[in-house]
Amino acid sequence: MSDAPTLFTSLALRGVTVPNRVVVSPMQQYVAGDDGLPNDFHLQHYGRLGIGGAGLVFTEALAVTPEGRVTHHDLGIWSEDQIEALKPIVAAIAARGGVPATQLIHAGRKGSVGRPWEGYNPLDEASAARGEVPWQTLAASALPANPGWHVPQALDEAGIARLISAYAEGARRAAAAGFRVLDIHAAHGYLIHSFLSPLGNRREDRWGGDFEGRIRFLLAVSEAVRAAWPAELPLFVRLSCVDDQPGGWTLDESVELSRRLKEIGVDVIDCSSGGLGERTTTKLIRRPEGYQVPYAERIRAEAQVPTMAVGLITTPAFAEEVVAEGRADLVAIGREALMNPHWPLQAARALGHDPNFGAWPPSWGWWLEKRARSASAPAQ
Ligand SMILES: Cc1cc2nc3c(=O)[nH]c(=O)nc-3n(C[C@H](O)[C@H](O)[C@H](O)COP(=O)(O)O)c2cc1C
Repeated sequence: MSDAPTLFTSLALRGVTVPNRVVVSPMQQYVAGDDGLPNDFHLQHYGRLGIGGAGLVFTEALAVTPEGRVTHHDLGIWSEDQIEALKPIVAAIAARGGVPATQLIHAGRKGSVGRPWEGYNPLDEASAARGEVPWQTLAASALPANPGWHVPQALDEAGIARLISAYAEGARRAAAAGFRVLDIHAAHGYLIHSFLSPLGNRREDRWGGDFEGRIRFLLAVSEAVRAAWPAELPLFVRLSCVDDQPGGWTLDESVELSRRLKEIGVDVIDCSSGGLGERTTTKLIRRPEGYQVPYAERIRAEAQVPTMAVGLITTPAFAEEVVAEGRADLVAIGREALMNPHWPLQAARALGHDPNFGAWPPSWGWWLEKRARSASAPAQ
């Protein structure tokens, strides 16, 4: 029996063994060009996160179509040249044993906006003059994400079929690029979430109405992606487990949906929340440590499916507690990985694992171990 902290035990998912339970959460960088191709910044950023020692390193979300981007600066997976361009990032993540993972997104009615640090507002004539031309957004229903935002076009049958194929094509390209874990982004108010939630979906056809109608699009996307994504590789789905809005999507619905996703071959439910309804991204909201862990815990217990917890998990002790107590199978860190890309390596040391810097690149670890020993060397 291993006496390693649970956080540093491996997890087998289909044909992939994730070496530890720490995950770098997907984080959009919004620094690509309009072609959706990665550049040197992406390579350095993901290479650094790969060195940092997380078992699973997600890239930012990749848009399945150009109009499925959030901004003009998102990475994409809608063309064959994007496959080649992503391969060095996959290699950089995998170089020290991390499993390279990515996420498929269609931003739906939350697309066609400026970058967060440039206001995060819908593109308009002023942005067009700077070269950021707005585009027609798409959603379940023709309801803007926020007052004054673009009114999306409600998808018709042909549009829905086109997008289901786009997700499947995205999955095929992600596999061709070498990614070994794939996550379908069904959270945060983006396209799929706009179908799931009664706040975004006012359709009266088979893609809306009751729970069965509202989950139909995600189930169809997941089935198509599962068929296109290699059978030996795990598939995750990120849910906003609750809308946190009156009349919104509920945790009970997330539990039932998770059971259904498991039946069609989804391996892990990635448990986030919010993003649809009242705008929260640009607001300052006080949140407790691990505020979304209870969602991962309940879905894991009641839908009997592995879960990933995310959201203000910042200390090694808390991350260890979440996995050791069986509240989630994986813990994802987002902003803390931006703060400190070596968080997983440092967490291992903090938990008494890897005391001699053995998990660090040897060209760093040899020096760091010597420095640590020299601190307790006798004075000359
Ligand atoms: C810069 C940034 C970009 C993000 N982009 C994505 C994304 O591409 N896909 C996604 O599912 N979540 C995205 N998120 C949400 C994070 O994955 C994570 O769920 C959230 O930041 C909460 O975790 P944290 O408290 O550890 O940061 C993003 C968050 C940040 C800070």
